[in-house]
Amino acid sequence: MVPKVRKAVFPAAGLGTRFLPATKAQPKEMLPLVDKPLIQYGVEEAIRSGIQNIIIVTGRGKSAIEDHFDVSFELEHLLESRNKMETLAIVRDISDMINVAYVRQKEALGLGHAVLRARELVGREPLAVVLSDDVIYSEVPCLRQLLDVYEFFGASVLALMEVPSDNISAYGVVEAEPVSHNGEEDRVFRIRNLVEKPKPSEAPSNLAIIGRYVLTPEIFDSIEAIEPGSGGEIQLTDALKHLLCSRPIYGYRFQGTRYDAGDKLGFLKATVEFALRRKDLGGEFREYLKGLEL
Ligand code: G1P
Repeated sequence: MVPKVRKAVFPAAGLGTRFLPATKAQPKEMLPLVDKPLIQYGVEEAIRSGIQNIIIVTGRGKSAIEDHFDVSFELEHLLESRNKMETLAIVRDISDMINVAYVRQKEALGLGHAVLRARELVGREPLAVVLSDDVIYSEVPCLRQLLDVYEFFGASVLALMEVPSDNISAYGVVEAEPVSHNGEEDRVFRIRNLVEKPKPSEAPSNLAIIGRYVLTPEIFDSIEAIEPGSGGEIQLTDALKHLLCSRPIYGYRFQGTRYDAGDKLGFLKATVEFALRRKDLGGEFREYLKGLEL
């Protein structure tokens, strides 16, 4: 039996420059999709995948994230006194859901560097990494899909998605061979190489890494061993390439719809589609959209 994945790391120290001015005084992880902050979608995905221990890597100006997952006595008291029990349950659920720990990344030196900050809290255990910009809507949580592959192969697993070649330079891209698994030929891949943000002409395939990872603990040594790469940052993709020299790594083309909520257009699409799926809002919102003269 492979060791169970008990901890999920959420890098959340980025400056959110793509969303200025909204992110000047507010972390981008707290931007609401309909009525829930982005990071909560990722946290709920981890919980639904069986992971309750959440490690959030924060930076300056991120205290709203800590407050969000903490108890709010004043708010709970007010809701109770007004007999707003449904809203009270929603507010309580947020703090009851998880065991959360925070670690600071003093400088934004890259995704690999952020993950390395969690080393002490993770210890010598496998870990999940969730990038909350990538919001994934699926029947089986994306992280659960990855964990199933991890539990079978006992190796690190990355979420993969095909992206058009004109967008490929925004991603980590893999060279990979399909592996037959559970009667499917085109979901599981054995990774042979990885490149962070390649030029379209240098991309080894159209399979991009999406922000869900299940990693074995040797990744921390690999992060420590590498030099800064793309954008002068310590890249997780480069650490994975280093790890590949000594361990197998798999990729999984997950089932579900992914939204790039770190991008303005992606965020708008996610907002509209999540609102349309809501029982309490979807009907009226659909009618409103149909009535727009576009
Ligand atoms: C990060 C990773 C990249 C991955 C992407 C997925 O890039 O470095 O490999 O493909 O997330 O969203 P970022 O979007 O932070 O530039």
